[in-house]
Amino acid sequence: MQLSKKPLLALLLVVVTLLSRAKAGHDGDDDGPPPPPCSPVDRAALLGFKAGVAVDTTGILATWDGDDCCGAWQGVSCDAATGRVVALQLEAPPPARQNYMEGALSASLGGLEFLETLVIRDMARIGGAIPGASLSRLSRLKQLYLEGNMLAGGIPGSLSEITSLQYLSLAGNRLEGKLPPELGSLSGLVQINLAGNRLSGEVPPSYKNLSRLAYLDLSNNLLSGAIPAFFGQQLKSLALLDLSNNGFSGEIPAPLCCLLNLTDLSLSHNKLTGVIPPQIGSIASLNSLSIDSNLLVGSIPESLFGLQKLWNLNLSRNGLSGSLPAGFRHGLPSLVSMDLSHNHLIGGIDQFLRSISPERRLTKLISSKNASSHMSVIFLPQELQHLDLSKNRITGALPEFGAGASLRWLDVSGNAIGGQIPSSVSKLSGLQRLDVSHNAIRGTIPASMAAMASLRWLDLSGNALVGRIPDSFSRMVRLRHASFRGNKLCGKIPQARPFNLLPAAAYAGNLCLCGKPLPPCRQI
Ligand SMILES: *[C@@H]1O[C@H](CO)[C@@H](O)[C@H](O)[C@H]1NC(C)=O
Ligand SMILES: *[C@@H]1O[C@H](CO)[C@@H](O)[C@H](O)[C@H]1NC(C)=O
Ligand SMILES: *[C@@H]1O[C@H](CO)[C@@H](O)[C@H](O)[C@H]1NC(C)=O
Ligand SMILES: *[C@@H]1O[C@H](CO)[C@@H](O)[C@H](O)[C@H]1NC(C)=O
Repeated sequence: MQLSKKPLLALLLVVVTLLSRAKAGHDGDDDGPPPPPCSPVDRAALLGFKAGVAVDTTGILATWDGDDCCGAWQGVSCDAATGRVVALQLEAPPPARQNYMEGALSASLGGLEFLETLVIRDMARIGGAIPGASLSRLSRLKQLYLEGNMLAGGIPGSLSEITSLQYLSLAGNRLEGKLPPELGSLSGLVQINLAGNRLSGEVPPSYKNLSRLAYLDLSNNLLSGAIPAFFGQQLKSLALLDLSNNGFSGEIPAPLCCLLNLTDLSLSHNKLTGVIPPQIGSIASLNSLSIDSNLLVGSIPESLFGLQKLWNLNLSRNGLSGSLPAGFRHGLPSLVSMDLSHNHLIGGIDQFLRSISPERRLTKLISSKNASSHMSVIFLPQELQHLDLSKNRITGALPEFGAGASLRWLDVSGNAIGGQIPSSVSKLSGLQRLDVSHNAIRGTIPASMAAMASLRWLDLSGNALVGRIPDSFSRMVRLRHASFRGNKLCGKIPQARPFNLLPAAAYAGNLCLCGKPLPPCRQI
């Protein structure tokens, strides 16, 4: 699951653009002289672009006909007072791949000298080089989006001559070569998105001048070298920093701590070494932190669990060791997804789940035999959907759950968890996947689990469970996959779908299970 707020940012931008266009349109409605016709210079530049496109299945360029490029020409917006083209926004309508433009970006685009916005998005087959020299003449350009095309070659350093540029996206092309150092002089840049290309080399030191940068996405490239410390020291406006899926190495620079507006930090799938700097825990604005699939060691800093706005935490597939943090006061109230799987973490699962839960209660056990006994119940973070602690060395026992209806995925497999499956696990009523396999869980399978109506995947294999598979399980009609393999279960398998149709291997290695798909039970 890839959690990201990027679509939101993009949407915001579209809304802002639409609003400003609506305003321009309204101004033109006033009673006054009729709007001037489209400038012949701009019309010629647009026709030059059209000539560079050999195939257009979007139908957009078919509307580029006649003299009035400010009228019915799709994707073209003009200043109502001057008749000059201020925006060219061409986006392939869905379905993707069926609607495309094939061709190259004509150098004639540089003739649209009043252009403020240039968007050519998801055209899939617009290839060739970016005409840097000609685009650099667009001295009023604020937004340049050439995303989701097939542009190749390097990023022209001459783009740095567009000093008015604020938003630059060349994401999802086939661009290669190094990040041009010249872009560091565009101190007005608010957004850079170069994700999904084949860019290589290091982040140029000149980028320390991009002090207004709020959004930097360099993910899915072949970049290498260290993560520059100046990101933390000088790019103080950063809200999103995504360097995932590259070859960055070295340690995570501690100065990242001082990015007080940072909400999304992703450093996943690199070759980062060393420890997670505890200072990351002081970025109080952090919503999402992903550092999975690196070579990090050491323990998880307790400070991360003071991040009250954190909704995604992925530290999976590193070499993290030491205890699961525990004992913090307020839990993680905003948590939606946490993945700490495939590390070497130790510690008790009960204390840990108690610690991330914003609410814990002592509940009187209703038992006539023992009125004095109390049970401590946890209420998981209200929005928590995904919790993966698998493949560590976690001990302890699963706690009693008070509620947790939003939880869809719980995986604690491949640890050393003991105790029993609490019958209150059925309070996790939205659970679709429950994997407690390969632990040391004892006791019987609670019949209450039959009430978990959303469950599709249940793996109890490789534990020390005894007794029967409850007959009530035949009510679990949503279940698609189940495994009871390698326990000490006995008795008749529920003779209902899917239990009687699962492969026999799902029941292998138990004491005395019987009935389909295993041989029939012997009459006693
Ligand atoms: C966390 O990262 C791992 C490894 O990169 C990935 O496989 C997993 O899907 C991620 N977890 C979540 C919940 O996104
Ligand atoms: C960075 O900014 C400083 C001061 O504004 C300026 O002197 C320097 O030339 C800039 N560096 C680059 C690479 O643009
Ligand atoms: C941080 O965000 C706030 C609110 O959006 C903004 O006013 C402030 O200027 C930002 N700080 C920096 C250093 O960019
Ligand atoms: C009653 O509760 C106490 C405290 O939890 C426990 O030690 C004891 O074994 C319980 N007795 C019975 C009969 O369940």
